[in-house]
Amino acid sequence: TWATVPLAPPDSIFKLTAGFKADAYPQKVNLGVGAYRDDNSKPWVLPVVKKATEILLNDPALDHEYLPITGLPEFTSAAAKLMLGGASAAIGEGRVASVQTISGTGANHLGALFLSRFYKWNGDKTIYLSNPTWANHHAIFKNVGIEPVDYPYFDPKTVGLAYEALLEAFSNAPEHSVILLHACAHNPTGVDPTKEQWREIADVMLAKKHFAFFDCAYQGFATGDLEGDASAVRYFEERGVPMLVCQSFAKNAGLYGERVGALHVVGATKDATERVKSQLSVLQRSEISNPPSHGARLMSLIMNNAELFDEWKGDIKTMAERIISMRKELHRLLTEELQTPGNWDHIVKQIGMFSFTGINPAQSQALIEKAHVYLTTNGRISMAGLNTHNIKYFASSLDKAVRG
Ligand code: LMR
Repeated sequence: TWATVPLAPPDSIFKLTAGFKADAYPQKVNLGVGAYRDDNSKPWVLPVVKKATEILLNDPALDHEYLPITGLPEFTSAAAKLMLGGASAAIGEGRVASVQTISGTGANHLGALFLSRFYKWNGDKTIYLSNPTWANHHAIFKNVGIEPVDYPYFDPKTVGLAYEALLEAFSNAPEHSVILLHACAHNPTGVDPTKEQWREIADVMLAKKHFAFFDCAYQGFATGDLEGDASAVRYFEERGVPMLVCQSFAKNAGLYGERVGALHVVGATKDATERVKSQLSVLQRSEISNPPSHGARLMSLIMNNAELFDEWKGDIKTMAERIISMRKELHRLLTEELQTPGNWDHIVKQIGMFSFTGINPAQSQALIEKAHVYLTTNGRISMAGLNTHNIKYFASSLDKAVRG
């Protein structure tokens, strides 16, 4: 039995966490997985989450019953509002089918599965993914029989957006193509389109009747502002681009292990949206029956209480601002103190959790092997892993790797 099962390689991101944990080197640095750390390299339980947990634990009515198949209604409605905005026409007209999912990965999966079954495919089932993208996107779509196709995104020459090539790819794609867009804080590059570029992207999407599959894992993390980070999603909804949105509360609420997220599918009519929701419910039932309750209860408390909500916004700012200050400091160290060869302006221009350093796989490997600095071989670093204690060590290790 199982003699023919091939050995699979370890996950490219989580193997770094395991390697880091097993490493006894005192100055080791983990810049692999996108998980926030405080200035002492420790996971940070958001104060607002602590408060909400207390409230939950002291609630005499708390039980351990099943949630509805599509999730906790107070959570999904607040999550939709957080993403699409209180003034969203789609929400007002009952045109958003929201389902609680196993964080962003589960939302991507359920969205992919739903499209695979019900989207009016124009030929083969394909999804356009940015090159590069989060490695898991490829696996998620392949799992449900949708073949990923790359679209240009990153220009190594400018370490910025390959904007013209992206627009051309969207224009040349067959009508009704499904295109995955990172709503903000693109993973792994940290490079986002500007407002004006989003406008033109929406123009092309509408002209070609493309479907926008938004993945939004970092709302609030990009700029510290929940509203601003949702602006591309909200703009597309306003313009009437057919779309769905995958939402995660792992990063912006520090709820990595609770697996709390949502999928929002925007429909053209209330009636169509109800039918969509009924099918999402059937799919969800066969896969997980009911989503987990704890994280959804926490987020429901936080999002539906004005005081807690404000406190959460403050916590998000704390995280986003610490990351931004690390970007500035790394840039300063490389350009002023170490005079590292090359241009490092992208470190401060990129946004969100990650920075795409532009170093090559050999240099990334050298950082891991020689300096015990863990990062993905594509040169992505999680800025959240840097702090005032390790940033000098990292900058000088990077400097050495670049000089060869
Ligand atoms: C990452 O890209 O590091 C995070 O999104 C964590 C993950 O699930 O891969």
